[in-house]
Amino acid sequence: NIDFIFSAPGKAILHGEHAVVHGKVALAVSLNLRTYLRLKSNSTGKVSLCLPNIHTFMSWDVSSLLPLRPSTLDAVLVQRLHHFTGFPSEMPDTCAMAVLAFLYIYISVFAESRWSKEELELINSWAFQGERVIHGTPSGVDNAVGTWGGILRYHAGTITPLSRVPVLRILLTNTKVPRSTKSLVAGVRDKIKKFPSVMHPVLESISAVSVTCELTLEEIASDPMPEHYAVLEELIDINQHHLQVLGVGHASLDTLCRTTLAHGLHSKLTGAGGGGCGITLLRPEPPSAELKDCGYDCWETSIGVPGVCLHSAS
Ligand code: PMV
Repeated sequence: NIDFIFSAPGKAILHGEHAVVHGKVALAVSLNLRTYLRLKSNSTGKVSLCLPNIHTFMSWDVSSLLPLRPSTLDAVLVQRLHHFTGFPSEMPDTCAMAVLAFLYIYISVFAESRWSKEELELINSWAFQGERVIHGTPSGVDNAVGTWGGILRYHAGTITPLSRVPVLRILLTNTKVPRSTKSLVAGVRDKIKKFPSVMHPVLESISAVSVTCELTLEEIASDPMPEHYAVLEELIDINQHHLQVLGVGHASLDTLCRTTLAHGLHSKLTGAGGGGCGITLLRPEPPSAELKDCGYDCWETSIGVPGVCLHSAS
C-alpha cells in the first residue's frame, strides 16, 4: 500500500507575463501558498486522491491506471485534467494543480521519496502537458515554478533560477473577476498582428523591466537599501501601464492599484490579467482590510519558497 503527501507552491509572475509568450524575459516566483495532495492505496485495489485545499476527493481502480505507457499517457492526462479543470480553485494563479494532478501517476511508477534532477524534469514536463490542456499554448513558466520553486528567470524556454533569493513580502489579491488565459493570450497576439510596430517596443520594454527587476532583486539579496524598494515600485507601475496597452487590464485591477496606492503601495496584475489576480509589493502595513471591504480575497505571502516536495504521511 502507498500513502504519500505532496505539496507544490503557488506562483506569481513578477514581470513579463504575455511578453514571455513572444520570446521576452519573465520573472516568476513561487509563493508559500501551497497546495497539498494525499495519495493512498488500499487493499481493495483502489487509489484515492485528496486535495484538501479545494475539498476534493477522488478514487480510481489501480487497474484502470496501469500499466502506464507513453502512448497511453496523453489520454490519461487529458481524461484526468478534464476532471481537474472542473473544480473550483481557491488557489488563484497557481500551477500547483497541474503539477499535483500528475504526481499520483508519477508515484505509482517511481515510489521514491527524493527526486533527482531528471525526475523533477519529468514532473515538470507532465505538468507542462497539463498546462497545455488547460491553456492551449502556455509558455511553460507556471509548471517550472511549481516544480523548482524559488525565483526563476524565463527566456525563450530557458529557465535560470536566481542564485540568491531576497526576502520580499507581497500581497496577492484575487479580484474574483473570471478570465480566460487562452483568450487573453489570443487577444494580445491579435493586437501585435494589427499594430506590430507599436506593440513590439512595448514587449521589448516589458522584457527590460524584467531584466532590471532581476538586477535589483540581486542587489537586495546582497545589500538591501530603501532605494531598491522604490525601484521595484516604479517597475511595477511601468509594467502595469504596459499591460494595459496590451489590452489585458481591467477595472477591478485599477481599483486594486488605486486602493493600494492610497497607502503608498504599488500593484500590478499578475498572470493573464483581465481580472484575475494582482500583486502588491508590501511595506510594513498592508492594506488588506480595505481590499477585503471591496469584496476581494487577500493573502499576505512571501516569495521564493521551495518547489514541489514529498512529505511523509503519518
Ligand atoms: O494567468 P496565468 O497564471 O495562467 O498566467 C498566464 C501567463 C501568460 O504569460 C499570460 C501566459 C503564459 O503561458 O505564460
